[in-house]
Amino acid sequence: MCGIVGYIGPEQASTFLMDGLSKLEYRGYDSAGIAVYDGTQIHVEKSVGRLANLEKKLESNQLIGNLGIGHTRWATHGRPSDVNSHPHTDCSGDFVVVHNGIIENYMHLKEKLIEKGHIFVSETDTEVVAHLVEEYYKGDFEAAVKQVLSEIEGSYALVFMTKHEPDKIICTKQDNPLVIGLGEGENFIASDIPAIINRTRRTYILSDGELAVVTKDSVWVMNRQGVPITKKVFEVHWDAEAAEKGGYEHFMIKEIYEQPRAIRETMSSRLAKDDSHIILDELKWTKQEMAAIKKIVVVACGTAYNAGLVGKYYLESLSRIPVEVDVASEFRYRSPLVDENTLAIVVSQSGETLDTLAALKEAKRLGAKTLAITNVVGSSISREADQVIYTWAGPEIAVASTKAYTTQLVLMSMLAIYIAGLRDTISAERSRELISGLRNLPAQLHEILEDVESIKTFAQKYGFNEDVFFIGRSLDYAVALEGALKLKEISYIHAEAYAAGELKHGTLALIIEGVPVIALATQHDVYEKTLSNIKEVKARDAIVIGIAQQGDEQIKKYVDHTIFIPQADKFLAPILAVLPLQLLAYYAAVTRGCDVDKPRNLAKSVTVE
Ligand code: G6P
Repeated sequence: MCGIVGYIGPEQASTFLMDGLSKLEYRGYDSAGIAVYDGTQIHVEKSVGRLANLEKKLESNQLIGNLGIGHTRWATHGRPSDVNSHPHTDCSGDFVVVHNGIIENYMHLKEKLIEKGHIFVSETDTEVVAHLVEEYYKGDFEAAVKQVLSEIEGSYALVFMTKHEPDKIICTKQDNPLVIGLGEGENFIASDIPAIINRTRRTYILSDGELAVVTKDSVWVMNRQGVPITKKVFEVHWDAEAAEKGGYEHFMIKEIYEQPRAIRETMSSRLAKDDSHIILDELKWTKQEMAAIKKIVVVACGTAYNAGLVGKYYLESLSRIPVEVDVASEFRYRSPLVDENTLAIVVSQSGETLDTLAALKEAKRLGAKTLAITNVVGSSISREADQVIYTWAGPEIAVASTKAYTTQLVLMSMLAIYIAGLRDTISAERSRELISGLRNLPAQLHEILEDVESIKTFAQKYGFNEDVFFIGRSLDYAVALEGALKLKEISYIHAEAYAAGELKHGTLALIIEGVPVIALATQHDVYEKTLSNIKEVKARDAIVIGIAQQGDEQIKKYVDHTIFIPQADKFLAPILAVLPLQLLAYYAAVTRGCDVDKPRNLAKSVTVE
């Protein structure tokens, strides 16, 4: 996720570009840059770090001109650095591009372009796009861009400019947002409405596959074959603050809704086209090195720890390596049994959590091989670990983690399939089954989101209870822990998660009439056992909300309400089952009037012990 902007009109482009980028920093903030055409040349200025760093550079090197594009980055391919920042240029500097998304086939394209003599300066996937336009430009900018689009695969919002045709900007999108703000004698382009709302409320929202040629007086929208498309003007009625949250009331709910896209991006380029295997080019371990691993330890805090618990099931059952999961603050003080045959996996959204970083250092000191799963390229944890795989979820702003958790689960499942493949502990058929199941997840999450009203109703009904219990077995238990954590964090309702079979050893004493119990029953192999536990709490007059897979008619007989998730493999069901729990927590917090995005006493990134 990144923020992109463009301007064409009578004013200084840099004024709009910088103002627009400041409104898009929530989409990424590890580096920024702008490119402006001064009437003869295109000049580019960029800087690693927050937008303020770029502002400082521009004080001593103002970019003058009425045509420009800009970008604020959230790194995916290539660490945050000046050179990896956008805009990117071709060899001549005549063609400039900014990009939000992932070009999946960039390695292949890069090799071809290098063979033809193109010189690359960055580690990004985006730079290939600039070189491709240079390659295809034969005096018709629009034709060159169309040819580029026929070559690239992946998700993108792209904005192009060239000094050869300085009367226009060309932009297009596939799976990433792009809006055009319609002005008088000027036009604006941005990833999102907050960037343009101070200039105009009249917009075109581009759809996938559409391409727009934007001049100062006109906007021509067409499909990639050049067939014109008549767009309806979308009038924006939100205020600026609401616009930053995409019209949602809170960042948390916006991020909940972003999960299908975040998951799609995290999987993109990592699933073989024929579903036969997982591609994790980032990992440099050999088959022999993987065969030598005798134990895996997963270390993390908070939600990332809960993701680790799910990861344990994946890794143990697919790769047949014993897995321990540890809270980072405990791990380093208990003389862990870790050696050179141990793989230590640290999971951290921010990549900065001090306890997790310290645990990683401890595992390294003890000789373990280390792997980080994080969302922030260039973070302390990503730099410290031997190897890194990134969740490409985009910045997570709300303190309560949602899209980071589901993308961590997706990555863990892919990692487990990958390691199992290297160790020959998974059949080709099972691997294919899981990979095609992964592909279905974004659409299935959308399906759950379509029925948000019923979940909202449950939350409003039970939002004032003081105690809520979550139960489940196997993977459902791991998800129950995350559901309870979400509810505690943001709604301040006391919530406990229990392995359903453990209830009878103590907790059942707390189950009395009217106590809400959220029972997860998505795991077919323990389904009957879970039903027995549901009957136990029902017999004590609890109010039971069941979370089950579609088609499960039986559960309805034993619970008060059921929330169904689409049918999925037992391994992938957690990635769906957590969504209603996130929504329940969110709407319970809203009902109770809590500060959802900034819960009391908590911080997004905890860099103290
Ligand atoms: C804080 C946040 C949690 C998060 C945890 C770990 O406690 O409030 O939401 O899960 O840190 O953060 P990390 O960035 O390491 O995943």
